[in-house]
Parts: sequence; C-alpha cells; structure tokens
Amino acid sequence: MNAQFDELRQQFTKEVEEAKNTEDIERVRVSYLGKKGCVTELLKGLKNVSAEEKKERGRMINELKNEVQARIEERQKSIAAEMEKFKLKTDERYDISLPCDPSVGTLHPITLVQRELEEIFASMGFAVEDYKEFVTEFENFEAVNIPKHHPARDMQDTYYLDNGQILKTHTSAAQNFILTKYGAPCKAIFPGRCFRNEALDASHETTFFQMEGVMVDKDISISNLIYFMETMLSEVFQKPITVRLRPGFFPFTEPGFELDIQCPFCGGTGCQTCKHGGWIELCPCGMIHPNVLRMGGIDPEEYTGFAFGLGLTRLAMMKFGIDDIRYLNSGNLKALDQFCKM
Ligand code: FA5
Repeated sequence: MNAQFDELRQQFTKEVEEAKNTEDIERVRVSYLGKKGCVTELLKGLKNVSAEEKKERGRMINELKNEVQARIEERQKSIAAEMEKFKLKTDERYDISLPCDPSVGTLHPITLVQRELEEIFASMGFAVEDYKEFVTEFENFEAVNIPKHHPARDMQDTYYLDNGQILKTHTSAAQNFILTKYGAPCKAIFPGRCFRNEALDASHETTFFQMEGVMVDKDISISNLIYFMETMLSEVFQKPITVRLRPGFFPFTEPGFELDIQCPFCGGTGCQTCKHGGWIELCPCGMIHPNVLRMGGIDPEEYTGFAFGLGLTRLAMMKFGIDDIRYLNSGNLKALDQFCKM
C-alpha cells in the first residue's frame, strides 16, 4: 500500500512542477481531486475493504488528499505571482517625461462660480447648505407665504411628480428648513438646481441654478444686504461693484427688491452685455416676510432678516461671457472648456 502511495506522490510532484500556467495546474487538480480524479477514486474504493483495513487506509488517503490540496493551492499562488511579474515586465511602459494631453477637462462654469461664491460667503461667516431637488408643495409655496390658489404660483410653471411632490422651482423652497434648523440668529447660503417648465431661449432654461442666502438677527436691515452683495460681487468681478435696488414683489419678502449691478464690463456707460442701459438685473431680494419667519419658528417682533435668490446660472454666464444659456446643459465639452479657460 505504501509503495502505491509513494508512486502516486512522485507522479503528482512531477506533474505539479511541470505545470507552468493556470490551465496546467487546473488540469492536475482535476486529475487528482476532481470527481473522477485518482485520489477521489481511492476514497470511493474504501467501501470495498474490510473494517480493520478501512481505518488505516482511510487515514492514509486523507493525508494524501490534504497534501495534494495544499500543494496545488501553493502552486496556484506561485503561478499567479509569476504571471503578475511577467505582466509587469512586458506591459506597455509610459514615458512620464512626455508632455501630457492638454485637453483635460475643467469644472463646469456653474460649479466654478458656485464654489467661488461659497468661499466668499463662508469667509463672511455664512454656513453653506445643500438641499433636495424634489420638495413638498408646502416647502416650495406655503412655507414662503404663497398659499394655494395664490396668483404668484403662476409665475413659476411647476413640474409635479406622481407622488404629489414637486421639482423645486426656486431655492427659496429651502428657507423653511434653514430657518427651522438654525433658528435666530442665522447666516446661511444654499445653492441648488431649480426646475421650471419654461420655453427655452438664450436666457431661459428648464433647469438652472440659484443661490439663496438668508441672514436673520436683531436689527438687520436692507443696508446689510447691500453690504454683503457689494462685497461678494466685487470679489467675483475683481473690481468695486455698485448696486442699486428697485422695488420688486415676492410674497415672501416685505419689502421686496430687484437688485441691479452697474455693468462691470463698461462701468455703466453702456455696452452689449448691459444692452446699453448701464445696469444689469441680477438678484431678487428683500426683507424676509414676517409670516415666513413665523413659519420657521422665529419671532418677527424680535428678529428681522434679509433673503436673496441669486441666479447662479446667469451670473456664470456673465462672468464667462456666455451669451446663450443652452450651452451650459448641452454637454458640449469643447464649448464649455473654452469658457472656463478664459
Ligand atoms: C425667485 O426665484 C425668488 N425665489 C428669489 C428671491 C429669493 C426673492 C429671496 C426674494 C428673496 P425669480 O423667479 O425672479 O425669483 O428667480 C430668481 C433668479 O433666478 C432670476 O433673477 C434669474 O437669474 C434666475 N432664473 C429664473 N428663471 C430662470 C430660468 N428659467 N433660466 C435661468 N435662470 C432663471
């Protein structure tokens, strides 16, 4: 019996040593341990031997089986390591001294402007928040003082989802969340993607970005808003920017304004960008309506605050000289790349 096992061992060792790749070693495994492999056949043969012989023979076969299994695993590992080494030696090499492809991508113009604004506002102590893209009707409308059937809802042609929620039409939809989360005093900006069922043209998209900001404290007035907007815009355009306010109506502000900036390109003398008017309409804003503060859990007798809803997409267009909003969602990397390299 011992001689038979020794012979088998010798034969097995030879075959394992000769195995040069994964296919070879798999063939060896099958011929010894597979369903019809010789070690498996030895185990099957145990049923034909006497009870006394079975014990000793069973032990020897199991010992052989374990040896074979361990040796095969070891060889599988060494073959994998040899193959990896070979691959590393023969694979394509890269010459790191060659000049790299200069056409690598850039961040999207809106992302660039958004990050810049976030940095500026953060440096002035504003928290930066993110919010959902689908919201409840309450968040988008009721919480900002636009009750059901209020005509102001018609100004924002809204996408309704089957589950009753809506795609947020403005970042003001997060005002209630922010006021409730921070309470008073608070200073936060919250950029986000907005959706309106608009007819597309060079300055209107169905999907665009806004950046909302709120500041609530004791004795906040519109002068605080003017200060923050002038500081932020002067940073963005890298020159002092003058703003002006015109009256505007928003159900969630009292009073409400349209903030215009003196054209940063011509200094107010008139050019193509400002359509020769010297001023550019940039950002609706106002003092937060007492009802909105109240719904956010803040006492309007004690606190006041301002809010603004900057058109981030339009600001990016202005900063990068993009004259058609449709470029921004076009996925045309060449066009977008060119704007960001300016
Ligand atoms: C609002 O959305 C108000 N929630 C803003 C606000 C916030 C006012 C806080 C007062 C206080 P309006 O609908 O005007 O306002 O949109 C604000 C800005 O979003 C616009 O000035 C414009 O820059 C941008 N915008 C609106 N609709 C589109 C559109 N279809 N495509 C691109 N930009 C748009």
